[in-house]
Amino acid sequence: MSSRPFRCLLTAGPTREHLDPVRFLSNGSSGKMGYALAAAAAARGWTVDLVSGPVALPAPAGVNVRRVVSAAEMFAACEAPFAACDLFIAVAAVADYRPLTAAAQKQKKQPGPVVLELVPTIDVLKTLAARKTPRQTVVGFAAETNDVESYARRKLAEKRLDWIVANDVSRAGLGMDADDNAIILLGAAGDRADFGPAPKSAVAEFILNRLAAASAANSPA
Ligand code: CTP
Repeated sequence: MSSRPFRCLLTAGPTREHLDPVRFLSNGSSGKMGYALAAAAAARGWTVDLVSGPVALPAPAGVNVRRVVSAAEMFAACEAPFAACDLFIAVAAVADYRPLTAAAQKQKKQPGPVVLELVPTIDVLKTLAARKTPRQTVVGFAAETNDVESYARRKLAEKRLDWIVANDVSRAGLGMDADDNAIILLGAAGDRADFGPAPKSAVAEFILNRLAAASAANSPA
């Protein structure tokens, strides 16, 4: 076994796509799940890089935090640490669309309706997962309001992930912007495990324990 520290890269929080300097498209992600995972990873002695969208949380102890705003910035900040990481966990709720044009100055109110033209942002996870080497493990999150497990399985396959953490974001007090979460962890090799409802710190420990157990089982004795 190599003596270099185990390296983990995470994304967390929402991203913002600006329409003008004061207005943006975003979502209600608090960053709590990603920050809990980063803290749990650092507590294991791993080297942890966290690329975070705008959240109100302090940097977890021992975690190297890089703060970004948009999906494009999140991708740019992840490229180098991804190439060096052993484990990538994409927890961020990345905005899927951005305005085709962003105004440099605050836009004035117009009489009548306004039509916004939106274009897709880069899929940070899918783009990086396509660069995965055999020694790397890539984990995604799937935030769903319905058909949680089937949509999560589809994302696991389409994004070529090793694992996906499915969570139902339609349940009050759980998932997005909540302190607790209930998850289903699905592996590309067929593993399936439920956990929660529980505090996000406990969910983070459960996920890292399962990933560590699976990688120990797969490495030569
Ligand atoms: N993700 C990403 N970049 C994007 C969109 C999603 O890195 N532009 C990652 C998220 O961090 C998460 C996974 O992809 O790990 C799934 O995100 P989710 O929002 O659940 O799904 P989408 O791929 O955006 O699909 P949809 O919105 O249609 O459910």
